[in-house]
This record gives sequence, C-alpha cells and structure tokens, in this order.
Amino acid sequence: PAPSPVLVRTRADLREVLDQQRGTRAVVMTMGALHEGHLDLVREARRRADHVVVTIFVNPLQFAPGEDLDAYPRDLEADLAMLASVGADVVFAPGPDMMYPDGDPRVRVDPGPLASVLEGATRPTHFGGVLTVVLKLLHLTRPHVALFGQKDAQQLALVRAMVRDLDVDVEVVGVPIRREPDGLAMSSRNAYLGDADRSAALALSAALEAGRAAAGAGAEQVLAAAREHLAAEPGVRLDYLELVDPETMEPVSAGASGPCLLVVAAWVGSTRLIDNTILDLW
Ligand code: PAJ
Repeated sequence: PAPSPVLVRTRADLREVLDQQRGTRAVVMTMGALHEGHLDLVREARRRADHVVVTIFVNPLQFAPGEDLDAYPRDLEADLAMLASVGADVVFAPGPDMMYPDGDPRVRVDPGPLASVLEGATRPTHFGGVLTVVLKLLHLTRPHVALFGQKDAQQLALVRAMVRDLDVDVEVVGVPIRREPDGLAMSSRNAYLGDADRSAALALSAALEAGRAAAGAGAEQVLAAAREHLAAEPGVRLDYLELVDPETMEPVSAGASGPCLLVVAAWVGSTRLIDNTILDLW
C-alpha cells in the first residue's frame, strides 16, 4: 500500500515539512469529503511536480449565513486513505482558528466584477471568501503549480484573474470535470441527494449534452435545447442557464462563434448544484 501522506495541522508544522522538500511543488486545495474529481486534481499534480500538497479546509468565509457550512460533509480519515492511494505527500488540514486566529479577517481580496454574475448573483460574498483563502493557502504552501477543477468554472476564472492581476507567482492549471457514469458531475454536495433528487439531478448534465449537440446551430439553439431538458424535469428549479465567455463570464452575443461555456445552476430539493460544459459555437 502507498504510504500515508504526512498530516499537518499548524502553519509551523507545515513550514517545517515544506522546508525539507527539494524540487517543485504542486498544491490542490479542497474542502474535503473527497471524491474521484478531487483525486483527478491530485493525479495531475503528481504529473506536474515533485511534491504534492493537498489542503483540506472548510472555509467559513465563503459560506453565507443560512448556507450549508455546518452540514458540509467532513471525513478526514476517509480523505487521508484516498489521498494515500494517489500519492499525495502532505495534507494540510488547519482548523478555522489556525486560518483565522483573529476571527474574520479585516483585509480581504476584492474579487471584482467577475464575482457578481452567475454564482455571485446568488452568493454575493462567496468569491471574496474563496479568493481570500486561496491567496492565504498559496502563501502558506508556496507552490509552483496550483490545480483547480473546471467543475467550478467561475472560481477557476477568478483564481486565474487574481494571479494575473495581483502578480502571484504560481502556474494555475485547470482540470476537466469528473462525472459519474450516468453523467452527474461529481460533487461533495451530491451526498445530500436522496434517490428521487439524485435522478432529477441528471437533468443538469443531460441539458448540457443537449446544448452541446446543438452547437452547430448557434447560441440561441444551444440555450433552447438545454432549457427544454431542464423544463421537462419537475424536480429541478433552475437558477441560471447561460452561454458565456470562459474568461470574462459575460454572456456571448447572438451569432457569436468560437469556444464558450454553457453554465447551469439549479436547486434539486434543498441542494444547489452547478455544472458546465465547454463547447464550440460555429
Ligand atoms: P471543493 O469544492 O472541495 O473543490 C476542490 C477542488 O476540486 C476545486 O478546484 C474544484 O473545482 C475541484 N472539483 C470538485 N469537483 C470536481 C469534479 N467533479 N471534477 C473536477 N474537479 C472537481 O472549490 C473548493 O473546494 C473551494 O472553493 C476551495 C478552492 C478549496 C477554497 O476554499
């Protein structure tokens, strides 16, 4: 069996372990409750660097009051076993007091206009909390490469923008979405879904597929095809469905061509799910 990763809980212990590493380092940041999608990031990290650090931290700053901070699944033992199987060297799992010793930080990253559309329209404080913890974790882990999933396309775009705009010295790598065999995008929040919700949730990936199939017919047809699928599933309450530029997250104009992102967010029961696909408009 693969050796277990070294588990560190404090910034002092992290520093000590990192100071012993030679060569390049990759970081994969997570909130735990790991699944194969997270492990794909670690596998890609292994290919790109000599050492792989995985962070596990359920970041209170990116949850709004009333969201699922307390309910968010936590299982460090299972996470460590999974990370051993893919060869992570170090796991940094700080508690909130370690990350925010003075309570909520007074200084935070301002994510700018990219953070007020799509996810940000429903969750206005979310991306400020994400970028603040991502920047802190970059400073703490000092990686050459940081890997993020395409599953959270807007988060990936915002991390890329922060790194560019604030001259953070790290290479950001995006990793494709990992799906269940039936198409559902893997997510720690899928654990919330009961059987009926689980099958209703399939409408999201099915809608994206229908949209992809219509890419040759243009933006309007893509959106219409996807919307039709979602409307046919009474268990799904749509939040947004949009065709956007993958970098700016601005809606593409009618008649646009080239690569764009079809993004969807919806409520299935009391669980909010997101998914997206890259497609090429002709
Ligand atoms: P979390 O939701 O745990 O996701 C950690 C990383 O795994 C993110 O980069 C996310 O995009 C990626 N990921 C999740 N599901 C995936 C899937 N099905 N396929 C591919 N990648 C997937 O995203 C966060 O945590 C947090 O916001 C974080 C960046 C850790 C900051 O707190």
